[in-house]
Amino acid sequence: MGNNVIINADVEKATINKNIYGHFAEHLGRGIYEGIWVGEDSPISNTNGIRNDVLEALKNLNIPVLRWPGGCFADEYHWKDGIGPRENRKRMINTHWGGVVENNHFGTHEFMMLCEMLETEPYICGNVGSGTVQEMSEWVEYMTFDGESPMANLRRENGRDEPWKLKYFGVGNENWGCGGNMRPEYYADLYRRYQTYVRNYGDNRIYKIAGGANVADYNWTEVLMKNAHWMMDGLSLHYYTIPGEFWTGKGSATDFPESEWFTTLKKALHMDTLITKHSTIMDKYDPTKRVGLIIDEWGTWYDPEPGTNPGFLYQQNTIRDALVAGIHFNIFHSHADRVQMANIAQTINVLQAMILTEGEKMLLTPTYHVFEMFKVHHDASLLSVESSFGKYELDGEVLPQVTVSASKDAEGKIHISLCNLDHQNQSDIEIDLRGIDISSATVSGRILTADKMNAHNTFEQPENVKPAEFTNVKKQEESLTVTLPPMSVVVLTVE
Ligand code: AHR
Repeated sequence: MGNNVIINADVEKATINKNIYGHFAEHLGRGIYEGIWVGEDSPISNTNGIRNDVLEALKNLNIPVLRWPGGCFADEYHWKDGIGPRENRKRMINTHWGGVVENNHFGTHEFMMLCEMLETEPYICGNVGSGTVQEMSEWVEYMTFDGESPMANLRRENGRDEPWKLKYFGVGNENWGCGGNMRPEYYADLYRRYQTYVRNYGDNRIYKIAGGANVADYNWTEVLMKNAHWMMDGLSLHYYTIPGEFWTGKGSATDFPESEWFTTLKKALHMDTLITKHSTIMDKYDPTKRVGLIIDEWGTWYDPEPGTNPGFLYQQNTIRDALVAGIHFNIFHSHADRVQMANIAQTINVLQAMILTEGEKMLLTPTYHVFEMFKVHHDASLLSVESSFGKYELDGEVLPQVTVSASKDAEGKIHISLCNLDHQNQSDIEIDLRGIDISSATVSGRILTADKMNAHNTFEQPENVKPAEFTNVKKQEESLTVTLPPMSVVVLTVE
């Protein structure tokens, strides 16, 4: 079967919200502590306590939005424990994640400083599960109120005169589970109550995100939309790509057979069905698509690396994870009219991370490289694409061999992202570019690929998997012919 793509370069659909390239960093394992925060006295080179190597690497991703402090941690977090002189801050046990001491050295001021350094929008997740309405309301006042008030004064006492700009605020996390084990009807009522006191001070305007469904819990979305859609700007959805079963064995990050490669990618593709079905329910109550679907936790979840604290969720990251990331982005693009944000779980040392650290060493994962390569799609216009691809078959199961997406940026450059899921076979593709004269255009490309399914970067070989120039593309009169090697992610630019 031929592999054909038609790109209508003159048919621009929705804008690809750059926030779908967002991140999530929780107080979990070595994500914040060691991964980001080493403290001012650390021998590891840092700026105000934030490690410089990580900072530089993250800056290069142009992270648009960063979610913090959890996750499950958010519904146990009491923000006042994390302000004031660090030596006086409460030490607590991170009961959910590994039972380790949390010294609260990374709190609101440190997080906001990190966001300023990264030029990223903060997305704060408040505590509904074990916190009060007053606590949530005061946090917003502390961060955003400019005038004379108890919380604004406290912020000034702690060294920050000006309020911060805060756009994104989540009212709880996974309130069907670790965030309080609530029924949707109960959470919908709590959401309505808590969000009432998440106030807009001065010209700060908060985009309120309601805690959404787990995977295919469509009833959750139905109940939330029915009872509160006019009080929210976004509704979240969490879905992790887990090759095995959550409780009995998720599978290894690096030691897996071809059947697990296949299952992992099949499960990544399932994101498309989930978005379609949740969006259809949202359409019923919000036909103009005002409320964004916010996929604020996604990514691979494997068994933790042997020998590490199982509560730290530390896992390696291979070319398989790069494919999972590329597949997700192409799916998110195709739902650009509803998906306004997505946050990969999680930025450093946790689950599908961009960066792994070991003491002063740091490496960039294959997932990092996909985020970097796909930067060209940030806020670009999604182009209309029609495609037909051959099959990728294993043991009688079938997937499309390739996924594709295309966008046009503000300068008129066209970017085409392609993922070849097949671990054995290359894909020869003809891309017909309509609505544009490419006779004088130049085409360039970058590729991330490997010759083993579990190829990954280690602290000894940190550049084993990294992007390279892609040369297997030929320009014809009105089309491009492309050969994708097995297991590859390619981004082409036509300008
Ligand atoms: O990302 C790890 C955890 O997964 C988060 O804390 C929680 O929200 C989800 O279950």
